[in-house]
Amino acid sequence: MTGKLAWITGASTGIGRALALRLVRDGWRVAASARGSDALTGLANESGGAIRAFPLDVTDAGATLRVAAEIERELGAVDLAVVNAGTDARTPATDFDAAVVRRVIEVNLIGASNTLAAAMPEMIRRRAGQIAVVASVAGYRGLPRAAAYSASKAGLIALAEGLKFDLDKHGVKIQVICPGFVRTPLTDRNDFAMPFLMDADEAAGRIARGLEGSAFEIAFPRRFAWMLKLLGCLPDRLYFPLVAKATGA
Ligand SMILES: NC(=O)c1ccc[n+]([C@@H]2O[C@H](COP(=O)([O-])OP(=O)(O)OC[C@H]3O[C@@H](n4cnc5c(N)ncnc54)[C@H](OP(=O)(O)O)[C@@H]3O)[C@@H](O)[C@H]2O)c1
Repeated sequence: MTGKLAWITGASTGIGRALALRLVRDGWRVAASARGSDALTGLANESGGAIRAFPLDVTDAGATLRVAAEIERELGAVDLAVVNAGTDARTPATDFDAAVVRRVIEVNLIGASNTLAAAMPEMIRRRAGQIAVVASVAGYRGLPRAAAYSASKAGLIALAEGLKFDLDKHGVKIQVICPGFVRTPLTDRNDFAMPFLMDADEAAGRIARGLEGSAFEIAFPRRFAWMLKLLGCLPDRLYFPLVAKATGA
């Protein structure tokens, strides 16, 4: 055991859960947060003591600060914060609901900001630590069926990029994680083809390796991420028809 401590939000299911178990296998201790305390307790039991449950709704800024303080008091300084809690909801132009957009932004962007606000000060004070913000390849440009989600993830990428300039000066490493499609409860709801779909355990392995590296962005599957990156660089008159054709939108 290296004894290093990771705080993962959105650790009750999917990518966060798989990453928590993967980090434990690599010798980490993990503070696991999400709203579902039963799932967190199950995860903690499965880990044989290396994972501790800290239930939290990341949209509650005060609670997020309190939980971060509780983790530090009980387990010590956080070496790695994985800002992963997220949600998705559709709101097509024909049935557009601003409340849906607000909810997605509230969890994905404001919830992430609450987590950063709770994790960063102590890291900056110690001039040590690592932050990984889980965005998505859907944040590169707007995608069909994902207007609110793409908006939240584009915001997250920009937020992480903007913070990097400051954090670099304070000895804190920040990275952005951009997964393609990963099989989790979030994508189980999708009723369209998901190219290059991968398992959460494989995604966790890619993330764990990326966290050890120096690249700012951890994007996978690499071929899919590059395809979307290149598509995103195309002029609008090519981007929109090509993406519409590829997705049947
Ligand atoms: N799956 C993919 O294909 C994919 C691709 C790119 C990026 N991502 C991103 O990866 C991250 C994890 O997603 P996933 O696919 O693993 O989905 P998931 O299985 O649905 O996991 C989402 C996690 O976030 C937690 N969460 C949701 N709202 C929360 C809140 N208000 N406060 C605290 N925790 C909250 C959920 O637990 P509770 O409901 O118990 O709170 C759960 O643990 C998300 O940021 C997602 O956008 C996923």
